[in-house]
Amino acid sequence: MKPARSPHARTPAGAAPPAQSLALSGQEPFARGTKRHCYVHPDDPDLCVKVAARADEDCLRQQRWDLEDCERLRARGADSVFDRIPAITGVVDTDLGRGIVMRLYRDRDGRISRNLSQVIREHGLTPSLVRAIDGMKRWLRTERLLTRDTAPYNVVAVRSGGGWTLMIIEGWENRKYRWLASLHPSVKDRLIARQLRKFDRRLSRMVQAPRTGPRP
Ligand SMILES: Nc1ncnc2c1ncn2[C@@H]1O[C@H](COP(=O)(O)OP(=O)(O)OP(=O)(O)O)[C@@H](O)[C@H]1O
Ligand SMILES: [Mg+2]
Repeated sequence: MKPARSPHARTPAGAAPPAQSLALSGQEPFARGTKRHCYVHPDDPDLCVKVAARADEDCLRQQRWDLEDCERLRARGADSVFDRIPAITGVVDTDLGRGIVMRLYRDRDGRISRNLSQVIREHGLTPSLVRAIDGMKRWLRTERLLTRDTAPYNVVAVRSGGGWTLMIIEGWENRKYRWLASLHPSVKDRLIARQLRKFDRRLSRMVQAPRTGPRP
């Protein structure tokens, strides 16, 4: 499902910031990552606006990479890639700096979905979460998407009825291995399998020591 287009949204490519800036500073962010703060879009509850947490290169680069990655995914010409990736609908000028606007995942009851680390901390690694993780991995293989160090805190677990669907909210393109992956489909498949093993290792580490990391 594609998100509704916000009146403030602009297409990323060649986007000019709108004349009027969006007021976010009066609102609490619904999440604070290490590089971005995430706000519900004031005009559309199904969109979020991400602004850089600080004016440093790490934060600004992440904003840039999200935009570039999303453009590359669009260029594939297949909508199915946005089944588990929030399409960016635009760039917006805010009173906290330039923001990127993307679909905000919510559970069926309307609450903002939490990331996989938070959900595992609360529920443990239940059979239905294990099924959802398997579903996400199958989807990544089918879409032949080589992500960049996907970790549980960059996966959002959307609760729908009794189950979960996992969405990947960051690191959609693996720049480091893009060239290698382009050499042959079998090379790409091997690199994807390696990324998925890496994800499993991260998952086991967090299940074994769920509260020791600095992440949310
Ligand atoms: N589209 C979304 N829908 C629902 N929740 C989201 C969405 N995007 C981000 N979040 C929540 O906000 C948190 C921080 O977002 P994000 O990962 O984009 O920030 P970051 O600072 O770039 O990340 P990191 O902490 O990995 O460096 C996520 O872990 C997730 O819980
Ligand atoms: Mg993140």
